[in-house]
Amino acid sequence: MIVTVTPNIALDITYSLDSFELYSSMRVYDVAERAGGKGINVSRVLHELGISTMAVGMVGGVVGAAITADLVDSNIDHRLVSLAGQTRRSIGIVDRSAGDATVLNEAGPQVSADEWADLLSLVREQLVSASVLVISGSLPPAAPLEGVGQLASLASETDIPVVVDTSGTALIAAVETGKPALVKPNIHELADALGTSDPVAGGRDLIARGAGAVAVSMGADGMAIITDSQAWRARPPEFIKGNPTGAGDASVSALAAGLAEGKGWEECLRNAVALSAAAVAHPQAGSFDSDVYHRLLDITDVEEF
Ligand SMILES: Nc1ncnc2c1ncn2[C@@H]1O[C@H](COP(=O)(O)OP(=O)(O)OP(=O)(O)O)[C@@H](O)[C@H]1O
Ligand SMILES: [Mg+2]
Repeated sequence: MIVTVTPNIALDITYSLDSFELYSSMRVYDVAERAGGKGINVSRVLHELGISTMAVGMVGGVVGAAITADLVDSNIDHRLVSLAGQTRRSIGIVDRSAGDATVLNEAGPQVSADEWADLLSLVREQLVSASVLVISGSLPPAAPLEGVGQLASLASETDIPVVVDTSGTALIAAVETGKPALVKPNIHELADALGTSDPVAGGRDLIARGAGAVAVSMGADGMAIITDSQAWRARPPEFIKGNPTGAGDASVSALAAGLAEGKGWEECLRNAVALSAAAVAHPQAGSFDSDVYHRLLDITDVEEF
């Protein structure tokens, strides 16, 4: 079972409008609402692939209740710490005429030291039946800066490979304290955290700091996987038009599944590039177009560099 942790779950609300106008009042006829946050997206994709997964996180208030209800409806196994605070919402406004979106991300609830300790215990319990631990997304305000590293350390102690997808100082702290098997920054996150946009140089820096391997995603340019002695790159065989939000999460699903099945890095990379392109082809983050996935898997080439 692949256990995912989303420290800062969100209810994703998507308003689709023919055209969005600032400073005006608009009626919204097309509203979609579902449990979101990066680890939840990873679990959703794994579930769609038929791979056993458990989503772990923290929720509170009426928004938290909506998250739980949606996970039940979606048949995604989950274990959630109850928070005194209110789970955040993330509001996406899709402007169909512009073919683009505006996203408003609430910061999330204040998490107490006890609530954070409850999350650590819950994750520790789930690790008993875990093949891989995935930790994705931002930390809620007031969570310890080394929070992702603490979560990763729980799994490293028991020799369960950890995949981390976070950014900024949390990424560096996670690598240094948690020694994850794999981290997946996108190219902008790599530049922000390390000051280089060179995937090999940045990847080797993260490896020197404690990561086992590094997958750098580069949007429509594909992905590179860097180990201490080798590097591979794969490009999507086609540019896919659609919704790129959550493509990185789909790639993390493929990488975690590959680690769980003991696949080599080249195979992991091919899968990640095909699955994430298929996720762009699907309008909602956390889902993918199955036909696109299988078609691209056959024609995605991996090269060494
Ligand atoms: N337009 C596209 N066509 C085909 N594949 C794409 C496209 N955009 C992204 N991808 C694939 O998706 C992967 C992840 O994309 P990206 O680097 O944008 O991740 P990300 O910024 O972490 O996304 P998110 O955090 O929103 O999930 C890329 O490595 C690439 O293989
Ligand atoms: Mg990402």
